[in-house]
Amino acid sequence: MARHRTPLIAANWKMHGDAAGVQRYLEELLPAVEDRPVEVVVCPPFTLLPAAVMIAAGSRIAIGGQNCHWEERGAFTGEIAPAMLVELGARWAIVGHSERRQHFGETDASTAARARAAQGAGLSVMFCLGETLEQREAGATFTVLERQSAALAGLDPTLLAVAYEPVWAIGTGRNATPEQAQEAHAYLRGRAAAVFGAVPASRLRILYGGSVKPDNAAALLGQDDVDGALVGGASLDVAAFSAIIRCAPG
Ligand code: PGA
Repeated sequence: MARHRTPLIAANWKMHGDAAGVQRYLEELLPAVEDRPVEVVVCPPFTLLPAAVMIAAGSRIAIGGQNCHWEERGAFTGEIAPAMLVELGARWAIVGHSERRQHFGETDASTAARARAAQGAGLSVMFCLGETLEQREAGATFTVLERQSAALAGLDPTLLAVAYEPVWAIGTGRNATPEQAQEAHAYLRGRAAAVFGAVPASRLRILYGGSVKPDNAAALLGQDDVDGALVGGASLDVAAFSAIIRCAPG
Protein backbone atom coordinates (compact mmCIF):
# COMPACT_ATOMS: atom_id res chain seq x y z
CA MET A 1 0.00 0.00 0.00
CA ALA A 2 1.46 3.37 -0.99
CA ARG A 3 2.09 5.62 1.96
CA HIS A 4 2.09 9.39 1.83
CA ARG A 5 3.65 9.87 5.20
CA THR A 6 7.36 10.44 5.82
CA PRO A 7 8.46 8.18 8.68
CA LEU A 8 9.22 10.01 11.89
CA ILE A 9 11.63 8.48 14.40
CA ALA A 10 11.87 10.28 17.75
CA ALA A 11 14.16 9.89 20.73
CA ASN A 12 12.82 10.52 24.20
CA TRP A 13 15.82 10.73 26.51
CA LYS A 14 13.62 11.21 29.60
CA MET A 15 15.79 12.33 32.56
CA HIS A 16 19.10 11.23 31.04
CA GLY A 17 22.01 12.97 29.37
CA ASP A 18 24.68 15.60 29.95
CA ALA A 19 26.41 18.35 27.98
CA ALA A 20 29.36 16.26 26.86
CA GLY A 21 27.09 13.43 25.81
CA VAL A 22 24.70 15.51 23.72
CA GLN A 23 27.53 16.78 21.54
CA ARG A 24 28.96 13.32 20.92
CA TYR A 25 25.53 11.82 20.35
CA LEU A 26 24.33 14.32 17.77
CA GLU A 27 27.63 14.37 15.91
CA GLU A 28 27.42 10.60 15.56
CA LEU A 29 23.74 10.70 14.65
CA LEU A 30 24.08 13.27 11.85
CA PRO A 31 25.57 10.89 9.25
CA ALA A 32 22.90 8.26 10.03
CA VAL A 33 20.20 10.75 9.15
CA GLU A 34 21.72 12.26 6.00
CA ASP A 35 20.06 11.12 2.78
CA ARG A 36 17.40 9.08 4.56
CA PRO A 37 13.76 9.82 3.74
CA VAL A 38 12.94 10.08 7.40
CA GLU A 39 12.32 12.86 9.90
CA VAL A 40 14.23 12.56 13.16
CA VAL A 41 13.38 14.35 16.40
CA VAL A 42 15.55 14.24 19.52
CA CYS A 43 13.97 15.24 22.84
CA PRO A 44 16.63 15.68 25.52
CA PRO A 45 15.98 17.18 28.97
CA PHE A 46 15.27 20.93 28.97
CA THR A 47 18.80 21.78 30.15
CA LEU A 48 20.32 20.32 27.00
CA LEU A 49 17.98 21.97 24.50
CA PRO A 50 20.19 24.99 23.62
CA ALA A 51 23.24 22.80 22.98
CA ALA A 52 21.20 20.28 21.02
CA VAL A 53 19.61 22.98 18.85
CA MET A 54 23.01 24.49 18.11
CA ILE A 55 24.64 21.19 17.16
CA ALA A 56 21.70 20.04 15.02
CA ALA A 57 21.25 23.41 13.26
CA GLY A 58 20.98 23.06 9.51
CA SER A 59 20.60 19.29 9.70
CA ARG A 60 17.55 17.04 9.28
CA ILE A 61 17.39 16.49 13.03
CA ALA A 62 14.75 18.54 14.85
CA ILE A 63 14.87 19.07 18.60
CA GLY A 64 11.92 18.81 20.95
CA GLY A 65 10.98 19.27 24.60
CA GLN A 66 9.48 16.48 26.69
CA ASN A 67 6.58 18.53 28.03
CA CYS A 68 5.19 22.05 28.01
CA HIS A 69 2.65 24.01 30.02
CA TRP A 70 -0.66 25.38 28.78
CA GLU A 71 -0.15 28.94 30.04
CA GLU A 72 2.13 31.50 28.46
CA ARG A 73 3.68 32.47 31.79
CA GLY A 74 2.87 32.55 35.47
CA ALA A 75 3.40 31.00 38.88
CA PHE A 76 3.97 27.41 37.77
CA THR A 77 7.20 26.34 39.46
CA GLY A 78 9.09 23.73 37.50
CA GLU A 79 7.07 24.10 34.30
CA ILE A 80 8.10 25.45 30.90
CA ALA A 81 5.97 27.58 28.58
CA PRO A 82 5.54 26.75 24.88
CA ALA A 83 7.10 30.08 23.82
CA MET A 84 10.16 29.26 25.94
CA LEU A 85 10.66 26.07 23.95
CA VAL A 86 10.20 27.99 20.73
CA GLU A 87 12.71 30.62 21.84
CA LEU A 88 15.27 27.87 22.44
CA GLY A 89 14.77 26.57 18.91
CA ALA A 90 12.74 23.48 19.78
CA ARG A 91 10.23 22.50 17.09
CA TRP A 92 8.40 19.72 18.91
CA ALA A 93 6.92 18.98 22.31
CA ILE A 94 5.98 15.58 23.70
CA VAL A 95 2.65 15.86 25.47
CA GLY A 96 0.74 13.40 27.64
CA HIS A 97 3.48 10.82 28.05
CA SER A 98 2.25 8.00 30.28
CA GLU A 99 4.97 8.78 32.82
CA ARG A 100 3.48 12.26 33.12
CA ARG A 101 0.01 10.78 33.44
CA GLN A 102 1.13 8.14 35.99
CA HIS A 103 3.55 10.09 38.18
CA PHE A 104 2.66 13.75 37.75
CA GLY A 105 -1.10 13.80 37.72
CA GLU A 106 -1.61 14.58 34.04
CA THR A 107 -5.21 14.14 32.99
CA ASP A 108 -6.88 14.00 29.60
CA ALA A 109 -7.91 17.63 30.15
CA SER A 110 -4.45 18.92 31.09
CA THR A 111 -2.88 16.95 28.26
CA ALA A 112 -5.32 18.49 25.79
CA ALA A 113 -4.60 21.98 27.16
CA ARG A 114 -0.84 21.48 26.87
CA ALA A 115 -1.16 20.21 23.31
CA ARG A 116 -3.35 23.15 22.24
CA ALA A 117 -0.99 25.68 23.80
CA ALA A 118 2.05 24.06 22.19
CA GLN A 119 0.45 24.20 18.76
CA GLY A 120 -0.69 27.76 19.42
CA ALA A 121 2.96 28.70 19.85
CA GLY A 122 3.87 26.95 16.60
CA LEU A 123 5.25 23.72 18.03
CA SER A 124 4.44 20.34 16.59
CA VAL A 125 3.03 17.98 19.18
CA MET A 126 3.78 14.32 19.81
CA PHE A 127 0.55 13.37 21.55
CA CYS A 128 1.01 10.20 23.62
CA LEU A 129 -1.73 7.81 24.60
CA GLY A 130 -2.12 4.12 25.36
CA GLU A 131 -3.69 1.60 27.66
CA THR A 132 -2.32 -0.09 30.79
CA LEU A 133 -1.94 -3.85 31.09
CA GLU A 134 -5.03 -4.07 33.32
CA GLN A 135 -7.06 -2.17 30.75
CA ARG A 136 -5.84 -4.40 27.91
CA GLU A 137 -6.56 -7.56 29.88
CA ALA A 138 -10.01 -6.26 30.73
CA GLY A 139 -10.70 -5.79 27.01
CA ALA A 140 -10.87 -2.03 27.46
CA THR A 141 -8.07 -0.99 25.07
CA PHE A 142 -10.31 0.70 22.51
CA THR A 143 -12.47 2.35 25.16
CA VAL A 144 -9.34 3.90 26.65
CA LEU A 145 -8.02 4.99 23.26
CA GLU A 146 -11.40 6.47 22.41
CA ARG A 147 -11.41 8.51 25.63
CA GLN A 148 -7.79 9.65 25.33
CA SER A 149 -8.05 10.50 21.64
CA ALA A 150 -11.08 12.72 22.24
CA ALA A 151 -8.46 15.39 23.05
CA LEU A 152 -7.40 15.46 19.40
CA ALA A 153 -10.58 17.38 18.59
CA GLY A 154 -9.13 20.83 19.24
CA LEU A 155 -5.82 20.19 17.51
CA ASP A 156 -4.27 21.04 14.15
CA PRO A 157 -3.48 17.75 12.37
CA THR A 158 -0.64 19.35 10.42
CA LEU A 159 1.29 20.04 13.66
CA LEU A 160 0.67 16.64 15.17
CA ALA A 161 1.95 13.11 15.50
CA VAL A 162 -0.02 10.71 17.65
CA ALA A 163 2.15 8.28 19.63
CA TYR A 164 0.47 5.01 20.58
CA GLU A 165 2.42 3.86 23.62
CA PRO A 166 0.84 0.95 25.49
CA VAL A 167 1.91 1.50 29.09
CA TRP A 168 2.75 -2.19 29.56
CA ALA A 169 5.34 -1.93 26.78
CA ILE A 170 7.19 1.15 28.01
CA GLY A 171 10.58 0.36 29.48
CA THR A 172 9.58 -3.27 30.04
CA GLY A 173 11.36 -4.91 27.11
CA ARG A 174 7.94 -6.27 26.10
CA ASN A 175 6.93 -4.52 22.91
CA ALA A 176 3.50 -4.78 21.35
CA THR A 177 3.50 -7.28 18.51
CA PRO A 178 3.38 -5.69 15.07
CA GLU A 179 -0.22 -6.96 14.78
CA GLN A 180 -1.24 -5.39 18.11
CA ALA A 181 0.37 -2.11 17.08
CA GLN A 182 -1.30 -2.15 13.65
CA GLU A 183 -4.70 -2.87 15.20
CA ALA A 184 -4.43 0.06 17.62
CA HIS A 185 -3.03 2.40 14.95
CA ALA A 186 -5.81 1.54 12.52
CA TYR A 187 -8.33 2.27 15.26
CA LEU A 188 -6.66 5.61 16.02
CA ARG A 189 -6.59 6.55 12.34
CA GLY A 190 -10.31 5.87 12.23
CA ARG A 191 -10.79 8.14 15.23
CA ALA A 192 -8.66 10.81 13.58
CA ALA A 193 -10.79 10.55 10.45
CA ALA A 194 -13.90 11.20 12.54
CA VAL A 195 -12.24 14.24 14.10
CA PHE A 196 -10.29 15.75 11.20
CA GLY A 197 -11.82 14.17 8.08
CA ALA A 198 -10.51 11.31 5.98
CA VAL A 199 -7.82 13.15 4.04
CA PRO A 200 -6.04 14.85 6.97
CA ALA A 201 -6.29 11.57 8.88
CA SER A 202 -4.63 9.68 6.04
CA ARG A 203 -1.70 12.10 6.31
CA LEU A 204 -1.49 12.02 10.11
CA ARG A 205 1.56 10.25 11.45
CA ILE A 206 0.87 7.68 14.13
CA LEU A 207 4.00 6.53 15.94
CA TYR A 208 4.44 3.41 18.01
CA GLY A 209 6.34 3.60 21.30
CA GLY A 210 7.20 0.95 23.89
CA SER A 211 10.40 -1.11 23.93
CA VAL A 212 11.31 -0.33 20.32
CA LYS A 213 14.76 -1.81 19.64
CA PRO A 214 16.88 -2.39 16.53
CA ASP A 215 15.72 -6.01 16.39
CA ASN A 216 11.97 -5.32 16.45
CA ALA A 217 11.84 -1.94 14.67
CA ALA A 218 11.62 -3.22 11.09
CA ALA A 219 8.59 -5.42 11.80
CA LEU A 220 6.79 -2.65 13.68
CA LEU A 221 7.63 0.05 11.14
CA GLY A 222 6.57 -2.24 8.33
CA GLN A 223 2.91 -2.12 9.40
CA ASP A 224 0.61 -0.05 7.18
CA ASP A 225 -0.50 2.38 9.88
CA VAL A 226 2.76 2.59 11.84
CA ASP A 227 4.45 5.75 10.60
CA GLY A 228 7.35 5.94 12.97
CA ALA A 229 8.55 5.27 16.48
CA LEU A 230 8.96 7.09 19.76
CA VAL A 231 11.99 5.47 21.34
CA GLY A 232 12.97 5.72 24.99
CA GLY A 233 15.65 3.40 26.38
CA ALA A 234 17.17 2.39 23.04
CA SER A 235 17.45 6.03 21.97
CA LEU A 236 20.11 6.65 24.64
CA ASP A 237 22.55 4.56 22.64
CA VAL A 238 23.29 6.41 19.40
CA ALA A 239 24.25 3.21 17.58
CA ALA A 240 20.95 1.56 18.53
CA PHE A 241 18.95 4.67 17.65
CA SER A 242 20.73 4.95 14.28
CA ALA A 243 19.95 1.28 13.60
CA ILE A 244 16.26 1.93 14.34
CA ILE A 245 16.29 4.89 11.93
CA ARG A 246 17.69 2.62 9.23
CA CYS A 247 14.71 0.28 9.74
CA ALA A 248 12.28 2.99 8.58
CA PRO A 249 10.85 2.11 5.19
CA GLY A 250 12.07 4.53 2.58
P1 PGA B 1 10.95 2.73 25.89
O1 PGA B 1 10.17 4.10 26.15
O2 PGA B 1 11.39 2.73 24.46
O3 PGA B 1 12.09 2.75 26.86
O4 PGA B 1 9.98 1.62 26.18
C1 PGA B 1 9.31 4.65 25.17
C2 PGA B 1 8.74 5.94 25.68
O5 PGA B 1 8.54 6.06 26.89
O6 PGA B 1 8.47 6.87 24.89
